[in-house]
Amino acid sequence: MSPDTHDIRQAALRTLDSIPDPKSGQGLSAAGLVKGLSVEDGRVGFVLEVAAADAAAYAPVRDAAERALLDVPGVTRAQVVLTAPAPTVVQRRSAQVSSDPRADPAAMPPAEHLPGVARVIAVASGKGGVGKSTVAVNLACAFARLGLRTGLLDADIYGPSAPRMTGASQKPAFIDGKLEPIVVWGLVVMSIGFLVDERQAMIWRGPMASSALRQMIGDVRWDARGPLDVLVVDLPPGTGDVHLTLVQKLSVDGAIIVSTPSEVALVDARRAVTMFGKINPPVPILGVIENMAYFPDPATGARLPIFGHGGARTEAERLAVPFLGEIPIDIALRAGTDEGRPLVASEPESAVSQVFLEIGRRLGFPAGS
Ligand SMILES: Nc1ncnc2c1ncn2[C@@H]1O[C@H](COP(=O)(O)OP(=O)(O)OP(=O)(O)O)[C@@H](O)[C@H]1O
Ligand SMILES: [Mg+2]
Repeated sequence: MSPDTHDIRQAALRTLDSIPDPKSGQGLSAAGLVKGLSVEDGRVGFVLEVAAADAAAYAPVRDAAERALLDVPGVTRAQVVLTAPAPTVVQRRSAQVSSDPRADPAAMPPAEHLPGVARVIAVASGKGGVGKSTVAVNLACAFARLGLRTGLLDADIYGPSAPRMTGASQKPAFIDGKLEPIVVWGLVVMSIGFLVDERQAMIWRGPMASSALRQMIGDVRWDARGPLDVLVVDLPPGTGDVHLTLVQKLSVDGAIIVSTPSEVALVDARRAVTMFGKINPPVPILGVIENMAYFPDPATGARLPIFGHGGARTEAERLAVPFLGEIPIDIALRAGTDEGRPLVASEPESAVSQVFLEIGRRLGFPAGS
C-alpha cells in the first residue's frame, strides 16, 4: 500500500470516528459500522450496514459521512452505500452460502422465489464480451413489448452496464429499507451502477462486493409497479463460485446462453451449461443464442461469417438444448445499447429487433402469471 493511500485511509477512519452513531453515541468506526473501507486513487468508499428498521434514520449519517470524507486531504470522491440485511428467507440462505464460499452448491437448500416475481431468467455466457448485456437488455424489451411485466437485474457489480445501455442515471429511492427499481423503456431495472458510478464499482473488494450483491438480491422491491411476469438477470462473465452462489440465491428458473460462433466462446458456453447443471435442483437451459452470428454485406446482403457461423447451433444440438436464434453484427444494435436506446424499444420494426421478439415469442412465458 503506498504511503498516500495509507495516510488517506487513516485520516478517513479518524474522520468517520468524528461522526457519532445515533444509536450507540460512539464514532462510526468505533461502533463497527464502517465495513469494507476501500481507498484507491483518491476514491474512498465503504458500506454502512444497519438494521432494516434503522435504514431511514441512517440516511443523514451516510450523507454526513460522504461530506466529511470529501474534506479529507487527497480524497477526490466518496461513496457510502447504506445497506440493511436482507429479509429473513434470503438472509438465511446467504448466511449459509457466505459462511463457506467453497460450499458445495449441490448441498444448499432449494432456493425460493423472489417475492412478486413469477420467474427469474439468467442470461449467461462464460466468456466476457460476447454480448450478454446487449442480449439481456433487448430480450427484456422484447418481453415487455409482448405484454409481459418485465424486470432487468444487472448482476455485474464490477462492470455494471444497465445504466449505459438504458440511459437511466437517476438514483433509486430507498424506502422502508428497500430499493425501488428504476422504470425505463417499460422495464423495472436495478443495477449497482445506479448506486455508484462505473469506475467506483470496479474497485470494490470482498466485503463491499458481497454486501452490494446481497442488496441487489434481497433489498429490491421488484413488485413496486405490480408483480413481474419475468425478471431477466444479466450475469457477469465467468462460471466460478460467485456465479454458482448468485444463481442459487436468485433461485433462477431457466438460463439462456449467449455465444459467438468462435470456438473459444463455445468452450466457455459449454462451461456455463455445466454450471447450471450443478445447481440443486439443476437450472434448465432454455436455449442458446448465437450473437454476432454474421455480418450482412451492405452491398449484397450476403452473410459474411466474421467469427465463423453456425457453431452455436451445432453446439446446442450436441448439448440437446434448444437453439433460439441468431443475432447478426448490427451497427444500430451496438449504437443503441451503447447510447442508452435499446434497439428493440426504439426501433421495434428493425430486422434485428424482430429476431429478439421472435425469441421472446418462442420462450412463450405467460402474462399475468
Ligand atoms: N450483435 C452485435 N452487433 C454489434 N455489436 C454488438 C453486438 N452484440 C454486442 N455488441 C457490442 O459488443 C460490445 C460487448 O457487448 P456486451 O457488453 O453486451 O457484452 P457482455 O458479454 O455483456 O460483456 P461483459 O462480459 O463485459 O459483461 C458492446 O459494445 C456491444 O454494443
Ligand atoms: Mg455484460
